[in-house]
Amino acid sequence: MRDMTNGFLSGKGAVVTGGSRGIGRAIVLALAREGASVVFCGRDQQGVQKAVADLRQQAGSQQIYGIAADVRDPSQVEALFRFADEQLGRIDVLVNNAGVGIFRPTGDLSIEDWRAVIETNLTGAFLCSREAIARFRRQGGGSIIHISSLAGKHGIAGGAAYNASKFGLNGMAEAMMLDHRYDNIRVSTILPGSVATEFGGQRTGEQAWKIAPEDIAEIVLTILRMPERTLISAVEVRPAKPHRPS
Ligand SMILES: NC(=O)c1ccc[n+]([C@@H]2O[C@H](COP(=O)([O-])OP(=O)(O)OC[C@H]3O[C@@H](n4cnc5c(N)ncnc54)[C@H](OP(=O)(O)O)[C@@H]3O)[C@@H](O)[C@H]2O)c1
Repeated sequence: MRDMTNGFLSGKGAVVTGGSRGIGRAIVLALAREGASVVFCGRDQQGVQKAVADLRQQAGSQQIYGIAADVRDPSQVEALFRFADEQLGRIDVLVNNAGVGIFRPTGDLSIEDWRAVIETNLTGAFLCSREAIARFRRQGGGSIIHISSLAGKHGIAGGAAYNASKFGLNGMAEAMMLDHRYDNIRVSTILPGSVATEFGGQRTGEQAWKIAPEDIAEIVLTILRMPERTLISAVEVRPAKPHRPS
């Protein structure tokens, strides 16, 4: 068993949305290895259960809990936070990571595609933040970290819905940071370029040039390690040497 009592997050509680795969999963593991107790969600119950078992083993910690919850649904978000209250006692960190990508020319996007992307990536982050802020105000502070994208600053072909969701997330995050900084609520946004996950149907295998999910998790830890006087409000991160088609 790993000794996590010395980790800098020992005694802290964290909620990570979309923790069953990819970037969210790496963040859950990194937080747990630093001693945090972590609750995460995903929509797929089986995927969540399997990830809990695997992550507990990898982290050498039983303080990892999962629940099936869809961040698009206000009542499921409420249930996620009630579950986190029960398991963690206290929430200090929220990582808004759950996200989907549907990439099609604007003229081919259905209203269902549009809603799925906007409601997950933008409305979901709002709903979870609202739950966290209510608790942070009562307890005197906390941290919210949004996993946005470089697609929140630069348009890409096929990205009308995804760009809109991430441009919107960046704007919401900046306002949230200004709204709540004097409540000791620290709001940060990470804007990654391509990360090696199965996001949006990407295949693994040809991804050695991409950012590793663990590198995003390391940035989350860096944000949380900063002294109280200093807030990392936004971080852009990209592959050092993006793939060049030959
Ligand atoms: N990969 C990249 O290149 C990249 C680059 C920049 C930013 N990002 C952002 O990073 C975040 C994570 O992406 P990833 O690459 O790790 O994707 P991923 O491997 O597809 O994982 C997405 C996670 O989110 C969960 N999820 C999706 N919709 C959800 C919903 N409505 N409610 C709750 N959970 C939901 C998924 O579980 P279920 O399917 O079971 O719900 C899964 O656990 C996203 O916000 C994405 O936009 C990714």
